Amino acid sequence: MKPKVLVTREVFDEALEILGRHFEVTANQSDRPFPPDELARQLADKAGALTTLTDRIDATLLERCSRLKAVCNIAVGFNNIDLAACSALGVMATNTPGVLDDSTADFTWALILAAARRVTEAEAALRAGEWKGWKLKQFLGQDVHHATLGIVGMGRIGQAVARRARGFDMKVVYHNTRRLDAGIEQACGAAYAGLDELLERADIVTLHVPYSPTTHHLIGAKQLARMKPTALLVNAARGGVVDDGALLAALREGRLAGAGLDVFENEPALDPGFLALKNVVLTPHIASSTEATRRKMALMAAENLIAALTAQRPPNLLNPDALATASKRSL
Ligand code: GLV
Ligand code: GLV
Repeated sequence: MKPKVLVTREVFDEALEILGRHFEVTANQSDRPFPPDELARQLADKAGALTTLTDRIDATLLERCSRLKAVCNIAVGFNNIDLAACSALGVMATNTPGVLDDSTADFTWALILAAARRVTEAEAALRAGEWKGWKLKQFLGQDVHHATLGIVGMGRIGQAVARRARGFDMKVVYHNTRRLDAGIEQACGAAYAGLDELLERADIVTLHVPYSPTTHHLIGAKQLARMKPTALLVNAARGGVVDDGALLAALREGRLAGAGLDVFENEPALDPGFLALKNVVLTPHIASSTEATRRKMALMAAENLIAALTAQRPPNLLNPDALATASKRSL
């Protein structure tokens, strides 16, 4: 008998096909996230799951799903998964690193340019019939070229953002928990700075850290107060890295010039205050969303699930310590 797996949201048919060769697949075709109780019920008889960042995989759920051996997230971020609980119960967890770096970095630049040059604000005015002709001082923005870019979080995505800054002749400073090797700094054209110094120097601050208790409200009122009033903040990382309330206050009071935001605290229920502000570019968590990249992410997660349930080590295993306890669970 094939092991049973659940695909919690709509995915590409190719991913369902390869899963179908190995497993009895139940797929949520409605693409509506399962509420926690329904997710637990759906997973009760499953050996594995292909999950997304809209699925909360916590200890309560895992304890109810005693057959579960692997949770394979279609995302590089995995803050929706309680890794410690997974390890304790022998559940392997995986993510999809690497394949989305370039798409996410490209999109970060879309946010940077749109915020600096007021692209969405100007388009909204045009669509509303407010354009009465060319004016010298219409929608004056800020130059991106030769500005100072501050990158917080210099992992794969942060580095890809830095490399793209070269074309804009920017000065790049970065902050990271650990300083990068000189060779990588040079390849990225980026110089290390403490977080406070970076916030004080940058014209554009872009965030590329994972969300965790350590990065919760990494950018709050105090950090925003260090930024130049002419600066822009870009977040294509995770909601919760920024204190949205503090950001709204800074934007409203003119203590920050603008922002480009793809992620929010409590998304999709973003604070309506953002909608009222013209100096913010808002997108619905789509930074990795290209046809090619989202397909690669789904296939990568599927391959992780196949490896996990066919007694191979999943290529993107996040919690190797689960392997020791995993053997206690049977398929
Ligand atoms: C998207 O937000 C991801 O973590 O892949
Ligand atoms: C603008 O369109 C210009 O010609 O400068």
